[in-house]
Amino acid sequence: MYNKSIMMLAAAAVIGAVSVASAQDAPFGNAEDTDYANKLWDVMVEQNLVGENSIKVRPFEGNEPHGAIQEVLATAATLDGHSGRLLVKRNHGGKEDLSVEEVYDDPIGNLVAITVMFKRESGYDTENQDWFWAKYLPSGELDKNPKGMQLAGRVAKGADEGCIACHTAAGGEDLETLTSK
Ligand code: HEC
Repeated sequence: MYNKSIMMLAAAAVIGAVSVASAQDAPFGNAEDTDYANKLWDVMVEQNLVGENSIKVRPFEGNEPHGAIQEVLATAATLDGHSGRLLVKRNHGGKEDLSVEEVYDDPIGNLVAITVMFKRESGYDTENQDWFWAKYLPSGELDKNPKGMQLAGRVAKGADEGCIACHTAAGGEDLETLTSK
């Protein structure tokens, strides 16, 4: 009796998780999130934060999950009439003993992902300081999680892994860490 009710509870929890993950009201990866992320990409291209004409910044050695060599740009942007702080981290890796010099000389060749935090309007995600999170591939397409959800929006609000969970654990009053050397 006791075991059976535990199992039913567990089953309900699993079903709940699946329906949240696939529903349009999931905290990230919705059409609204991906449209917004695509517009944000265009803004970043215009500001030379990504793409072939990217501004060069000093790369530094980083840690997982953000890649062996990283570049960080902290700036601001305006999208749909809203202006906010914009943090762009370009993550390089993909091969053994990649050096800072190599990334500096060729900032595109070993780029594996671009992770972005954009401060949205107040009330967007009050518990998490209103950040919009996105992870792009070098082409500008959004990366996906193993469930096929595109990584844009409140990623992954309520989950114990992902952008929000890890940045919360890493401390920093505003979920920012900015430990770039
Ligand atoms: C497992 C932990 C972890 C996960 C998951 C994670 N981050 Fe980070 N992130 C960090 C740490 C630690 C730093 C600072 C140190 C570093 O750069 O490695 C950081 C730095 C950043 C920065 C540079 C600005 C800053 O605060 O220093 C951005 C932008 C960023 N992360 C975005 C993201 C996005 C978007 C995701 C999800 C797609 C994500 N992060 C997932 C740990 C994580």
